[in-house]
Amino acid sequence: MKILSSKASFLLLIITLILTNCVYSEAQNCRPSGRIRGKKAPPGQCNQENDSDCCVEGKMYTTYVCSPYVSTHTKAYLTLNSFEKGGDGGGPSECDKQYHSDDTPVVALSTGWFNHKSRCLNNITISANGRNVVAMVVDECDSRKGCDEQHDYQPPCTNNIVDASKAVWKALGVPKEQWGGLDITWSDA
Ligand SMILES: *[C@@H]1O[C@H](CO)[C@@H](O)[C@H](O)[C@H]1NC(C)=O
Ligand SMILES: *[C@@H]1O[C@H](CO)[C@@H](O)[C@H](O)[C@H]1NC(C)=O
Repeated sequence: MKILSSKASFLLLIITLILTNCVYSEAQNCRPSGRIRGKKAPPGQCNQENDSDCCVEGKMYTTYVCSPYVSTHTKAYLTLNSFEKGGDGGGPSECDKQYHSDDTPVVALSTGWFNHKSRCLNNITISANGRNVVAMVVDECDSRKGCDEQHDYQPPCTNNIVDASKAVWKALGVPKEQWGGLDITWSDA
């Protein structure tokens, strides 16, 4: 009887550990929410300025409503975007319905990190290349939708994007030829 109960409590401990671990990795891992089929942009509709990619007809794109857990060193992928009128960012910024000069440090975040506008007009600190740069969140990098007019016929963002104006790239001291894609970390400023 004594042995059985200690076995039982050991089993309970194991089960608890497994469950805790599941909950923990659920928070860490963000799984896709679905997929959308690429539609080709009407002629002249997808702005390919600065290597923006346009949706490919029939290609499947993964969508997300979540992003990885935010820490003081959240890993992300930095991309380049124009926030100016007529730039490759599409319409005005989601947070303030304004366009922004690409000479100001502004960013768009993937849907999960944008978190229903909760980071709007707040600053984040971007760390890369041995430097820290503070930038303001003004827009969403939509991970749920894409390949339509509203998204300039570009694919949905992955869930780990900090899409930045050229001012951010410049301030990080990245050589111009390398602007467009960089592993970074960020945190709320
Ligand atoms: C994109 O490229 C054009 C032409 O090379 C340049 O004038 C513009 O500043 C670039 N946009 C960004 C956001 O860097
Ligand atoms: C973010 O930084 C900008 C520029 O430094 C500043 O004007 C603004 O007040 C900051 N926003 C917040 C919410 O702290």
